[in-house]
Amino acid sequence: MLSRVARPVATAAGLCRSFSGSSQCNAKVAVLGASGGIGQPLSLLLKNSPLVGELSLYDIAHTPGVAADLSHIETRAKVTGYLGAEQLPAALKGCEMVVIPAGVPRKPGMTRDDLFTTNASIVADLTEACARHCPEAMICVISNPVNSTIPITTEVFKKLGVYNPNKIFGVSTLDIVRANTFVAELKGLDPARVSVPVIGGHAGKTIIPLISQCNPKVEIPQDKLQALTERIQEAGTEVVKAKAGAGSATLSMAYAGARFAFSLLDAMNGKEGVVECAFVRSEETESPYFSTPLLLGKNGIEKNLGLGKLSAFEEKLVAEAMSELKASIKKGEDFVKNRK
Ligand code: NAD
Ligand code: LMR
Repeated sequence: MLSRVARPVATAAGLCRSFSGSSQCNAKVAVLGASGGIGQPLSLLLKNSPLVGELSLYDIAHTPGVAADLSHIETRAKVTGYLGAEQLPAALKGCEMVVIPAGVPRKPGMTRDDLFTTNASIVADLTEACARHCPEAMICVISNPVNSTIPITTEVFKKLGVYNPNKIFGVSTLDIVRANTFVAELKGLDPARVSVPVIGGHAGKTIIPLISQCNPKVEIPQDKLQALTERIQEAGTEVVKAKAGAGSATLSMAYAGARFAFSLLDAMNGKEGVVECAFVRSEETESPYFSTPLLLGKNGIEKNLGLGKLSAFEEKLVAEAMSELKASIKKGEDFVKNRK
């Protein structure tokens, strides 16, 4: 069962009260792309957490203002803004976790893969800086297309001889958050008590919700199951269409990114039994990267919990995802191999 302890649910007493009750820690966390639609609310959630001692905000625009603004909040995380490539090494120095939402978002009519042209080099440059200046840090990549940006990150770390597969994560938590919400809506449940693993990748049909493994168990007739699965797979597009040219999911992604970061920080802090799904290097299927529930620990992935028992419908979804997944992964790997 997925651990639900780290959900960033606000309480009247402040966000920090609802995070797992774990002791404080002093992690230094960097957000790269901190001035963006995701970066700003994500940085706010991180600033509000007792797990964060230092918050390092990096972007190519507006970070002095974002950092000044957040630094007035009465929580103990020390906030520093860094602007432009020459300040990136200082932003990363001593970081234990780096969260990367830098890059362009989709507009209506685009696929996530259409972002590759712009975002591949942004992610390669930023992760190269991570490999040089904080090679031991947990790297959490939000930038799309995640199915390619994680292979890019891996190849960059390999090139610099500091690769550790247990510390590189493609953040797919928003798919889980959406699956929990939509199942709860359908079944009249409290979404905070629903837990649906979502495996595979983070784009269209590579997003595979395992409703058969939902906790609590739910019965959904096949026609509704098909529609629910498709809604989860296309939920990002639902937001892109609703925002009508103004970008993609930002607030729900900030929530999801914070949930993942807090789970990982909790686990790094020694909390036991913390499980999150993420898109990682994997030997669970024929795809070299695959999202499955992961047991997290002090050094990142402690154990890959695998796919579990799938229904026939879910097995078919996994089979249908493979060719797209493998092509996106290869595209990311080739990008780094062919880069000067
Ligand atoms: P945005 O345009 O609002 O913000 C992006 C930020 O990145 C901007 O502040 C920009 O200045 C910064 N940036 C650009 N190049 C940079 C560089 N080289 N170094 C540092 N910062 C740089 O976009 P957004 O809505 O915040 O989305 C960011 C990315 O997250 C997109 O690629 C989007 O597709 C992705 N996303 C992923 C998920 C997911 O589930 N993994 C969910 C939503 C969005
Ligand atoms: C999402 O799932 O919301 C993100 O991947 C952004 C997008 O382009 O849909």
